[in-house]
Amino acid sequence: MSALEASAIARANIALAKYWGKSDVRLNLPAVPSISLTLDALMTTTRVRFDETLSEDRVILDGNLSDRKASRRAVKMLDEVRSLASLEMSAEVITTNSFPTAAGLASSASGFAALAGAAAAAAGLKLSDPELSRMARRASASAARSIFGGFVELPSGAPGDDGLSASPLYGVSHWDLSMVIALTATGPKKVGSTEGMERSRMSSPYYEAWIKAAPGLADRVRKGIESRDLGSLGRAMEESTLAFHCCAITASPPIIYWRPATLSVLHRVHELREEGLNAWATMDAGPHVKVLCERSDEERLAAELGKDPSVLEVLRCRPAGGLQVTHG
Ligand code: DP6
Repeated sequence: MSALEASAIARANIALAKYWGKSDVRLNLPAVPSISLTLDALMTTTRVRFDETLSEDRVILDGNLSDRKASRRAVKMLDEVRSLASLEMSAEVITTNSFPTAAGLASSASGFAALAGAAAAAAGLKLSDPELSRMARRASASAARSIFGGFVELPSGAPGDDGLSASPLYGVSHWDLSMVIALTATGPKKVGSTEGMERSRMSSPYYEAWIKAAPGLADRVRKGIESRDLGSLGRAMEESTLAFHCCAITASPPIIYWRPATLSVLHRVHELREEGLNAWATMDAGPHVKVLCERSDEERLAAELGKDPSVLEVLRCRPAGGLQVTHG
């Protein structure tokens, strides 16, 4: 039975150029290119065991058995693995996050990347990183990027292009950056990203403008990374996050992921820039603010953000490597 077990570790990533919107909902293909940074402090560890004595798949997340709805995407991925490996057994999935799952910190990215790695290895499949990235993308597109470390790009997908996967742009050693995360609220977000982006597509008057602008923003982000120019990267990164949030805010009914504390931190980051600190903010489908800076400024930035009374906790993250799989 030991041959049918494996573990994997994957880290979450934060998009510097955002993915928001699908070109093909059924195949889960992004309508825009995105570029991310994989981070060390946000880690998921997953163990998968295929077992003929199990009558159905069991997914245990941070010690709690997930219900059918919560484990739907995981079961779909297990089905794909079973079909590739010609296996018929159910699986037990035990997964833990090194960060609060409910806090909305890209847990689906690290979660589905780790699951793809562990499930494929447990089933005896030898899949390449692009193949694992493709499998992760079908569950959650941001997870496609967490297969790789450092700076990673996921291109947009044309409808029907089920072969789409992410690819690494630059490794961890390319640039000594830090991402300081200001946690501004507890509890799960009310509108998940899948629902948020579909609602934006169907009802925001600014959705088409976002889809048109996103490739140019991703180009600027890529060039900023290439030349290690934090000012250029940061400016494009902030424009990307504000443009996608604009679509969400103007959807019907509106999706406002920000809390008062989100704006408080955003303004503080802008003030700190005026005071000479090279720091740039980005927000995902939740209220937290992730602030990018040079490693040498991490200490000062974390201390400054920690002084904001609306900030609950400050996490410091650094670029990290990609998926690690342990067989047996
Ligand atoms: C705002 O990858 O969670 O974090 O593919 O529907 O699972 P699905 O969406 P998901 O969306 C992430 C959206 C984002 C931006 C990003 O990570 O690029």
